[in-house]
Parts: sequence; C-alpha cells; structure tokens
Amino acid sequence: MEVNKEITELYLSSSSSSPIPAFTTRWWSKDTVAMVTGANKGIGFSLVNQLAQLGLTVILTARDVEKGNRAVELLKSHGLHVHFYRLDVSDPASIKTFALWFQKKFGVLDILVSYFPLLFLIVSRFLT
Ligand SMILES: NC(=O)c1ccc[n+]([C@@H]2O[C@H](COP(=O)([O-])OP(=O)(O)OC[C@H]3O[C@@H](n4cnc5c(N)ncnc54)[C@H](OP(=O)(O)O)[C@@H]3O)[C@@H](O)[C@H]2O)c1
Repeated sequence: MEVNKEITELYLSSSSSSPIPAFTTRWWSKDTVAMVTGANKGIGFSLVNQLAQLGLTVILTARDVEKGNRAVELLKSHGLHVHFYRLDVSDPASIKTFALWFQKKFGVLDILVSYFPLLFLIVSRFLT
C-alpha cells in the first residue's frame, strides 16, 4: 500500500508536460515500433496516444477504415506521429495483408498491444 502511494506521488510530481514517470529510464526511441489493435477508441486509442507522446513510432489498427483514419487524424492534429492500417483480428486474410504491409514498411515489431492473444502467434508466423 505504502509503495503504491509513493509511486503515485512520484509519478504525479514528475514533469507535467511528459507522461514519463521521473523514475523511468528511457530505453525507447523513434525507431521503437509499437502496434495496437482495436485502437480507434477506448483503451487501445488511449495507449496509442500515450506511446506516441512518449516518442515511439505507433501503428494504430482498427477493423473500420473510417473510424481508424478519424482516430489517426485526431492524434496527428496534436502533432503525434502515428500510422493507420486496417486490421480485423478475426479475419486471417486481413492479418496476412497487414503482416505483409508491416514487414515491408517497418520490418521489426518491438511492442504488440492486443486483447487478442492469438494474434501474436499469427503475426509472428508471418514476420519470421
Ligand atoms: N474499459 C475497461 O475498464 C476494461 C477493463 C478491463 C478489461 N477491459 C477489456 O479491454 C478490452 C478493450 O476495452 P475498451 O473499453 O477499450 O473497449 P471498447 O471501447 O469497446 O473498444 C474495443 C475496440 O476493439 C475493437 N475490435 C473489436 N473487435 C475487433 C476485431 N475483430 N478486430 C479489430 N478490432 C476489433 C473495436 O472496434 P470497433 O469500434 O470497430 O467495434 C474497438 O476499437 C475489452 O476486451 C474489454 O473487455 C476493459
């Protein structure tokens, strides 16, 4: 309990313009690539926002092109560098198309945030 309180206070006392807690060592860079599935809204969207604010390269994926583009445009209007690609995690053809695009454009994936655990195995298969 006490540790949680100290960490919360440390976090809140860190620079208000940065989401990076004062006790964190920065190990990532713009070359660190993260992707988040189902990210046009909710937790996924929030994570893309946080990761992009930290300076990573982030791919926002969503199954609906219009919703995905809208979400990316919103983030871009705040100066963040994010990319959109359509991905329906329940559709193997969509996963394959995404993986081929990703491999060509970025090559290596450093961080995968997905509520769909099987996706990791499938994307890994295409990227190795
Ligand atoms: N919110 C919480 O407090 C909370 C707490 C614990 C756990 N969770 C879990 O965390 C997950 C996300 O929560 P959330 O609040 O962010 O939910 P949300 O606002 O409903 O967002 C879910 C996202 O997943 C997308 N999605 C659904 N099926 C998909 C598919 N086949 N392919 C690609 N994207 C798909 C949705 O896209 P569309 O817009 O196209 O539908 C939407 O962008 C859920 O599994 C939820 O049960 C949430």
